[in-house]
Amino acid sequence: MQGELIVFSGSSHPALARAIADRLGVPLGESEVLKFSNENLMVRIKDNVRERDVFVVQTSSPPVNDHLVETLIFLDALRYASAARITAVLPYFPYCRSDKKDEPRISIAARLVAELLVAAGADRVLTMDLHSPQIQGFFRIPVDQLLAAPVFMDYFKDVLFREEPKEDFVLVMGDHGAAKQFGYYADELDLPVAIMDKFRPNHSEKPVIRQVIGNVADKACLIIDDEIASGGTLVEAADMLSRSGARRILAAAVHPILSGNALKKLLESPIERFILGNTVPVAEKILGHGDRFVVLDLASLFAEAIRSIHSGSSISALFPPSVRRKA
Ligand code: R5P
Repeated sequence: MQGELIVFSGSSHPALARAIADRLGVPLGESEVLKFSNENLMVRIKDNVRERDVFVVQTSSPPVNDHLVETLIFLDALRYASAARITAVLPYFPYCRSDKKDEPRISIAARLVAELLVAAGADRVLTMDLHSPQIQGFFRIPVDQLLAAPVFMDYFKDVLFREEPKEDFVLVMGDHGAAKQFGYYADELDLPVAIMDKFRPNHSEKPVIRQVIGNVADKACLIIDDEIASGGTLVEAADMLSRSGARRILAAAVHPILSGNALKKLLESPIERFILGNTVPVAEKILGHGDRFVVLDLASLFAEAIRSIHSGSSISALFPPSVRRKA
């Protein structure tokens, strides 16, 4: 058991940080972030954190680079303020799509972020649905990667499968990577899977989907993906599903970044409902479109994980049973 627990919020997603603190039954720690005219940031920790077990909640939302630098300065301030242990709680991990050197002369920015976090003072990291799980290996400190799946699957069971029989559904994976990453949804829900055969020429926001592998004709198609950025993947997937005879199309994604004109594109698509996580601020973006968007609250998962990290107990109960079995 570490010193007394305290949770701070960076400026990226105060609503989520507040919800996590509420679930933990603690007030948010007090801090302030100042931005000077030369654009330099200063973070001041207003609570005493000496020998305390500190959690800083900061997600990767626009302005992404400002928030990243703020995280580093926050960690540094906590270190200088004598915190006993510092956990960076990063619901959506910064630069998570830059996870490999698959072209000449490019950076692996997610690894660089890992090194920066540790250099700044992080003792642990708590995150959710990494774009690729091997990002954990960029760290030499403990990394807990939560999965949003239990909350999403509860929604599927409690809402979708009451609207029409579960047997009518097929899970559609956005690409081959998603098929590997989210295979446990099919195990847990006992549903068939279809896979989009997708590739992205030159980082284009309009990926090419060559075919859909699996039977989607006359089915209720539920697309599962980790994130929605430009919306290109979903729009192209929905187009392919429509052309392949899908009867209904729904989409679920943990991190709804919704960059650029993603919202407009999604609203024009045949996708009837978007089931989203709240790892990034999304409520204001979708204001007025509540009939097509459902936002699932993931704060309880983070709060439970923080409780377990603080008390030194296992977090395995937070994972779907089939993932737990592999542990
Ligand atoms: C791809 O590898 C991911 O799983 C997502 O499909 C992708 O990041 C979504 O991005 P966008 O919305 O820009 O197509």
